[in-house]
Amino acid sequence: MCGIIGIIGKEEVVPRIMEGLKRLEYRGYDSAGIATLYDGKKIDRRRAQGKLVNLEERLREIPLLGTIGIGHTRWATHGAPTEQNAHPHATPRVAVVHNGIIENFRDLREELSAAGHQFETETDTETIVHLITSFLDQGLDPRAAAEAALKRLEGAFALAMIFDGEEDLMIGARRGSPLVLGYGEGEMYLGSDAIALAHLTRKITYLEEGDRVELTRNGARLFDEAGREVIRPVTMATISGGMIDKGNYRHFMLKEIYEQPTVIGQTLGTLIDPLQGKITLPEFPFDLAGIDRVTIIACGTSYYAGMVAKYWLEQKARLNVEVDIASEFRYREAVMPKGGLAIFISQSGETADTLAALRYAQAQGQHILSIVNVPQSSMERESDMVLHTHAGPEVGVASTKAFTCQLAVLACLAIAMAKARGQIDHGEEERLCQALTEVPARMAEVLNHDEAIQALADDVAKARDVIYLGRGPEYPIAMEGALKLKEISYIHAEGYAAGEMKHGPIALIDENVPIIVIAPTGRLFEKTVSNMQEVIARKGRVIFITDEQGAKTDSEEAEATIALPMLDEFVTPLLYAIPVQLLSYHVAVAKGTDVDQPRNLAKSVTVE
Ligand code: M6R
Repeated sequence: MCGIIGIIGKEEVVPRIMEGLKRLEYRGYDSAGIATLYDGKKIDRRRAQGKLVNLEERLREIPLLGTIGIGHTRWATHGAPTEQNAHPHATPRVAVVHNGIIENFRDLREELSAAGHQFETETDTETIVHLITSFLDQGLDPRAAAEAALKRLEGAFALAMIFDGEEDLMIGARRGSPLVLGYGEGEMYLGSDAIALAHLTRKITYLEEGDRVELTRNGARLFDEAGREVIRPVTMATISGGMIDKGNYRHFMLKEIYEQPTVIGQTLGTLIDPLQGKITLPEFPFDLAGIDRVTIIACGTSYYAGMVAKYWLEQKARLNVEVDIASEFRYREAVMPKGGLAIFISQSGETADTLAALRYAQAQGQHILSIVNVPQSSMERESDMVLHTHAGPEVGVASTKAFTCQLAVLACLAIAMAKARGQIDHGEEERLCQALTEVPARMAEVLNHDEAIQALADDVAKARDVIYLGRGPEYPIAMEGALKLKEISYIHAEGYAAGEMKHGPIALIDENVPIIVIAPTGRLFEKTVSNMQEVIARKGRVIFITDEQGAKTDSEEAEATIALPMLDEFVTPLLYAIPVQLLSYHVAVAKGTDVDQPRNLAKSVTVE
C-alpha cells in the first residue's frame, strides 16, 4: 500500500506531485505529505493527517517550493495515522518516502538510538532516514550512503529519497514493492505505478526486484541487487493521462456498478467468437488439454471469484481444483505436482500475498496464469500467461465491476478447458457461450431494480448483523455480498453456505437479523428454499433474491423479494453479484459512511 511519487524537474514540482498523489490515493488515504529542496538546497516538507484535501489546505496556507520533490499517500502499518507519522520522513540531510514494511526496524532503531539519533515518530520508515544519515555522517556521499543503508534493510520496500544540497539527485529502490521510473524531457520521475505518472509520461521502466536507481534531470542509472549497473527495458504505458471522474454519479462505486453491462460486454468480446459460438483464448505457452490439476489463489473479492470458478471448472471441465486465500497459501507449503496450472486472480495485479504465492507456485514448476485488471502489473510481468479483465480503472475501494469481469474471464476459461479436455462438445460450448453473451443485457435489466433495492437499505442499515445465504456458485456470492457490506457500511455480515446454517449459525437468527437469501431457480433452488424456510420459522427476516420463476413460487413468506431475469444456471453468479453490490452501496449511503474510501482500507494491498 502507500503511494509514492518523485519528480526531478525543470519547473515547480508540487502541483504535479499533488496530481500524482490524487491518482495514488487508492493506495491509502490515512495521511499525505511532500518534501522538496527549497532553493535547491534545504529539505522542506508539508504533511497532513487524513485525506489529500487536508494536505492541499496545508499547502495553500504555507506553500512549498522546489523543482525536485517526493510525495506520499499513506496506509498506516507502523504508527497511528497522524501528521507526525506521515511521510516524507526526514533528518536535515535526507528525506524519504516508503511503501512496505521494514521488518528489522526495531533492531535498527535501537542501534541508531544508542548512537545518539533522536526518533520523532513510531514508524519503521524513520529508521531508514536515520540509517542513511548515519552513513552520510561517516563521510559517505549520498549514493554510497543509500547503497550502504539498503544493504541493512530487511523486509519489503519501495523508496524514493532526496538529499540536502543535492538538487540534481534522487534515489529510488525496490524490494518486494513495485516502483517505476518515468522519462520526461529534461525531467525524470519515480512512481509506485504507471498510473501515478500517467499525467507526466507514458515512457517508463519497471524496476526489478532488488534494483536501485539514481536519477538526475537528464537520465537514470540502474543497479541490480548485486550493485552491477544494468539496463532495463523502456516500455510505453497504456494508461491514459486523463483523471478518471465520477461523471453524474454520486460515488465511483455506483458508477462502477452501472458500468458492468458495458465492461462485461468488452471482456467477453475479447474471449468469445459469437459467430462460431466458441471461446477464442489467446495462444497459451502450454497445452490446456494436458492440465489435470488447477490451483486458484487470490485475496478478498478476487478469492470469491476463484471460488465460483472452482464450481465451473469441476462441473464443466471435470478438473481437480483447489482454491486458497493467498496469505494462507504462501506459508502452508502446499504440495504441487509439476505441470499443474496455478491461476492468480487480482484486480490490481500487485497484491503482496498473491504475488508471493505466485512466486511459490512458479518455484514448484506450475504453469502460471494471471487474471488481472491493471495492465503491466507485477503479476502480469511474472506470469507465463495473462488474461485481462477489461473492467477499466476501478477506483472505489469496494471491488464491483472487476469482480464480475473476473467471473466472465473464468467462465470462458472453464468452457475452453472443458472443451480442450473433451468434456463438452461444440454444441454445449455454443450453448454456454450464448448464455454468457446474454449476460450484459440481463445485467442492464437487473440495474432496473436499483430503486427497489434502495428501498430496503434503511432497514438493513439499522441491523447489527446481516447473514447472506447461498448454495453452489451462489455461496461465494453470499460471501462477496457480506464482504461488500462489511467493508463499506461497517455492519457485521457473514456469508454462509445455506446448508451449513443448521450446524451452528442458525442460533444467531432472530427478528433483528436480516437474512439475504440468494437463490436462482435450478438444481439447488429447492434445497436453498428449504434452508430459507428454516430461517423464517425462527423469525428471520428474509430478503429473497431470486428470479421471476422463483418469485412466483416461493416468495410469500419473505419480507421482500427481488426478482431477477431468468438466465442459464451457469452464468447466474455474474447476475446475482449486482443486487448484493447495490444493497451494500445503499446501506452505506444510508449510514453516511465514506463509500469510495472506507476507513482502514486501501485499494491495492502491497503489504502482507
Ligand atoms: O487487487 P486484488 O484483486 O488482488 O485485491 C484483493 C483484495 O484486496 C480486494 O478484492 C478487496 O477484498 C476488495 N476491497 C473487496 O472489495
